[in-house]
This record gives sequence, C-alpha cells and structure tokens, in this order.
Amino acid sequence: MVGSLVATAIWTMIPAYVPNNAAVLAGGGRPIDGGRTWDGTRILGDGKTWRGTAVGTITGVVLALLLNRIRAPVVEATGIELLPEFTLPAAVALALGAMLGDIGASFVKRRSGRERGASFPGLDQLDFVVGALGLTLVVTPEWFFATFTPGVIAVIVVVTPLLHVVTNVAAYKLGLKNEPW
Ligand code: CTP
Ligand code: MG
Repeated sequence: MVGSLVATAIWTMIPAYVPNNAAVLAGGGRPIDGGRTWDGTRILGDGKTWRGTAVGTITGVVLALLLNRIRAPVVEATGIELLPEFTLPAAVALALGAMLGDIGASFVKRRSGRERGASFPGLDQLDFVVGALGLTLVVTPEWFFATFTPGVIAVIVVVTPLLHVVTNVAAYKLGLKNEPW
C-alpha cells in the first residue's frame, strides 16, 4: 500500500526529476539572462542556459511518453493501477515547470547574494517540485487533481529531497557536477 504510493509518486515525478539532470549534462552556451545584471548581480547567472533548459524540458517530455508506452505491462506485472498516464499538456507542464522552478530558485539565490553554485538548503531540493506541480495545476487542473492526491503529494515532499541528495552527490562524484547539491 505505502509501496505502491511511493512507486506512483516516483513514476509521476520522473518527467520532473530528470530534466534537471539532463540540463547538467547538456548545459553550456548562452545564459538565459544574456549576462544582464540587476542591482549589480546577475539576474540568473551562467548556470541557467537556453540549451540546458531546452534539452531538459524535451528529455522530460520524451520520458513521459516512454512511461506511457510501458505503463500497461508494468501495471500488469505489479498490480499498481494508480500509475498515471501522461497527457501531452501534463508532460510538458511537469518538465518545463521543473526547469522554471529551478530557474526561479537561481533568481532568488542571486537576489540573496549567493554566487552561482552556492547551496540553499530546502530551496535546492524542492524548487523544481513547486515549479512542476504549480505549472501542472495551471495548465491541466483536471489531470493535476486526479493525479496529485494528498497521499501522493505527501510522498513527493518526503522522497524528493532524498532522491535529490543521492543523485546530486552521485553526479558530483562522477565529475558531472561542480558541487554536490
Ligand atoms: N544547467 C543549464 N540550464 C538550466 C539548469 C542547469 O544549463 N536551466 C546546467 C548548467 O551548466 C549548470 C548545471 O546545469 O551549471 C548545474 O545546474 P544547477 O545546480 O541548477 O546550477 P548552478 O550552476 O549550481 O547555478 P545556481 O547557483 O544558479 O543554481
Ligand atoms: Mg547548483
């Protein structure tokens, strides 16, 4: 019961989890803020690029469509009927929302005087969850309420920071990321 709720929460959030990691691999090129500053500090910084954002978003959408294709056999094998089917608007909103949440966090970090790469505990782990759920709520409220039940949201809030810490430390150890957060 708890196991299937956790599995459902992770399945639902894969299109929101992976874009940030894809952006790390794809990052580089023109920064979104074009180097512009506000009050003497960069609006977003060099860590938020057009290429990273585009590749991250597309990766999330493609993953959602792949999950749709394997859903039937997975439900058959596990009996977890709760696993959602991603509509295209939901897939785009989850992936793009995650990227926008992360971009919003960089904006907040720069305004609070944190350099690129500085950590902001809490914000770093949940910015993309807020972005993904927020954009999904706006874009496709029916899908949002059918999918993000209170139980699923509770699991997401607990499990996401754990997954985030584990994947970022792994990416750091593999030399893919400059900081372990
Ligand atoms: N990245 C990107 N575009 C994004 C998000 C991430 O190109 N929208 C890439 C950048 O190369 C970035 C790396 O992924 O340096 C790591 O992402 P993140 O930790 O979010 O950025 P930081 O460099 O730590 O910058 P910030 O302090 O603004 O979070
Ligand atoms: Mg960072």
